[in-house]
Amino acid sequence: MENNRGSWNSNIGFLLAAIGSAVGLGNIWGFPYKMGKSGGFTFLLVYIFLAVFVGLIIMASELALGRKTRKAPIAAYKAVSSKYSWLGWFAVLSPFLIMTFYSVLGGYCIYYIIINLMGLFGGMPDGSSFGAMLTSIPASLGVLLGFMLICFIIVAGGVSGGIEKFNKIGMPALFVMLLVIIVRALTLPNAVEGLKFMFVPGYAVRGGFIEEAPSLITVLGTAGGQMFFSLSLAMGAMITYGSYLSKEENLVKNSGIIVFADTLVALLAGIAVIPAAVANGINNGIPVANIKLNGPGLLFSTLQDVFHNMGTIGGIFGVIFYLLVLIAAISSAISLMEVLAAHFIDKAAEQGKTLDRKKVVLIITAVITVIGALVAADGLGSNHITPAELFKLKVNTWNDCWLDFFDCWSEGIMMPLGAMLMALMIGGEIGPKVMLDEIHNGEHSPFFSKFYRFCVIYVVPAVMCLVLAGQLTDFFGNQVVSYIISAVCFIIFTYHTLIPDWKKLGQDGNE
Ligand code: PFF
Repeated sequence: MENNRGSWNSNIGFLLAAIGSAVGLGNIWGFPYKMGKSGGFTFLLVYIFLAVFVGLIIMASELALGRKTRKAPIAAYKAVSSKYSWLGWFAVLSPFLIMTFYSVLGGYCIYYIIINLMGLFGGMPDGSSFGAMLTSIPASLGVLLGFMLICFIIVAGGVSGGIEKFNKIGMPALFVMLLVIIVRALTLPNAVEGLKFMFVPGYAVRGGFIEEAPSLITVLGTAGGQMFFSLSLAMGAMITYGSYLSKEENLVKNSGIIVFADTLVALLAGIAVIPAAVANGINNGIPVANIKLNGPGLLFSTLQDVFHNMGTIGGIFGVIFYLLVLIAAISSAISLMEVLAAHFIDKAAEQGKTLDRKKVVLIITAVITVIGALVAADGLGSNHITPAELFKLKVNTWNDCWLDFFDCWSEGIMMPLGAMLMALMIGGEIGPKVMLDEIHNGEHSPFFSKFYRFCVIYVVPAVMCLVLAGQLTDFFGNQVVSYIISAVCFIIFTYHTLIPDWKKLGQDGNE
């Protein structure tokens, strides 16, 4: 499409941008605590299985869908499918919902950089800064504005001039800072307990850190949700980034590199965060009450206590740590904003108009900031009317916090459902061959083709049903209801979409 869409300058630029999208708060914050909460090592194994058999397949499919159509998600789905053309809307609505709280959390990082910098001149802040910040509406709003301004400048700069440039510097810097923090964390006394917590099966329960091990289905739901979120899948981001990619690039290799790098950073972040938090909460070999490995408390309260306990030098590590989290948050947020920008730019181009990128990004920034301001003012549920009150519906995962409410819809429901439907579209309606032709672009790899076909037709839909069931269990607090809903979903979609096309695929012979 000859318009102002833009493209990547180089494959490495694309890779760093895609890794930047994937590496975010999900890795540094979500992964360590979900791993801890969900049984440590078991979670890791399930996560890796899902990343290879589901994540890699959806990653390659999304990049291929974008590159094949050269369009943003809504137009891309319309171009290849008649039954699932509406699926693109999921991929635009979810990034918007995610940005409403991602922007707030990104703002919190700016706040923590500032207070740690100030701590260098005396009076290192401790974990109680978190409560102080949450209840200070001007502070939360101020840093939200700061975060959105940075994102605006980068996205308005364009695909290669803004997003690619930022990631080319930001990603290597993030990696180096992460290594510095790991070295500091692992040299703290008792850090080894944190490593055991992560890597020794059953240690989280035996060591007294969590009360009981979760069921396998809960682990699957948590790991599945985490994997999609972490790899930026089913959100349109990879379709959009793929749409700027040159036809020459190898999508199998690129997808593998992105999945590997994201998983590596998640593990490294776990090794940086968990041992520090655990070491800090251990006294005479016994975990003291309140090692908060869960929720926002881990990043903004527990870890700040760690830096506080190091004295003034802690300020330096604090600045490095929150700067690295900020870079991770920005590199992901800009990909979410690019999905929205690309949609409007492409839509205008279809009607023969050329939109000014800066204006489009400005409007997107303004709308996200307004809704983000509501989440910021809510202070993670400390203030105001709760979602449960407003909707007269009590649901486990979002009773009293607007951040959880938006997260639950986007990460909890739309992502697994979107991925499942994408697999049904590829496996059933359009056929894996169409995707494989784009993925390989001339250079066929028989092994990957077989692996891809098998996974996209059988593994992904089945696993996604279980993941959805796990997420819904969290949602409703009742496993039976969740299984029933997911099974019904699966049966309806299979019956209406897959079966007629499977027959057709069979008649086509081995494509
Ligand atoms: N992958 C990001 C993280 O791990 O924090 C979050 C994210 C970014 C999700 C972009 C979805 C997306 F499209």
